[in-house]
Amino acid sequence: MSNHEQHEQSHSSVMRKTMSRRQFLSYTLGGAGAFMAGGVVLPMIRFAVDPILQKKTGGTFVKVAEESAITSEPKEFKYQIHQVDGWYESDPERSAWIARDQNGTIFALSPVCKHLGCTVNWNSQNDNQYFCPCHEAKYSIDGKNLRVAPAPLDEYEVEVRDGWVYLGPVKPNSRV
Ligand code: FES
Repeated sequence: MSNHEQHEQSHSSVMRKTMSRRQFLSYTLGGAGAFMAGGVVLPMIRFAVDPILQKKTGGTFVKVAEESAITSEPKEFKYQIHQVDGWYESDPERSAWIARDQNGTIFALSPVCKHLGCTVNWNSQNDNQYFCPCHEAKYSIDGKNLRVAPAPLDEYEVEVRDGWVYLGPVKPNSRV
């Protein structure tokens, strides 16, 4: 082997070693960087997406009134619900008109007028009807729309347990 050939061979072996060291370093650093970036980015993605993946908590029942306080005359009860909407949690106040029908069954109506959403009152005109002061809609004791409003008052889901009335989500009126 000539001197020139020996020199070429040793030079190419040095090149190979240098390349493989570079590759090793770049793989190692790249891998470590990706691992660290994943450690930072994945929790951020999880935080951003998590509330969307959670089940909504709107279907729970809330203790609102003592069963013994409910008569055939509708009474207004105010209560709070805990609401989770994505990242936003709140405790808005709700109200319901609760009464017993002729069979003694307890039912609860939403006070939200089905015309444009004002709040109705019971018997404010001394006519045993619900009345909305905004445009004078009227409803029967069961929530049937008698004037102005296009639909009956909504109803709450009701559960009676251990002497207490619990209210759940609003549903379309099933009484009229
Ligand atoms: S909002 Fe009730 S009558 Fe118009």
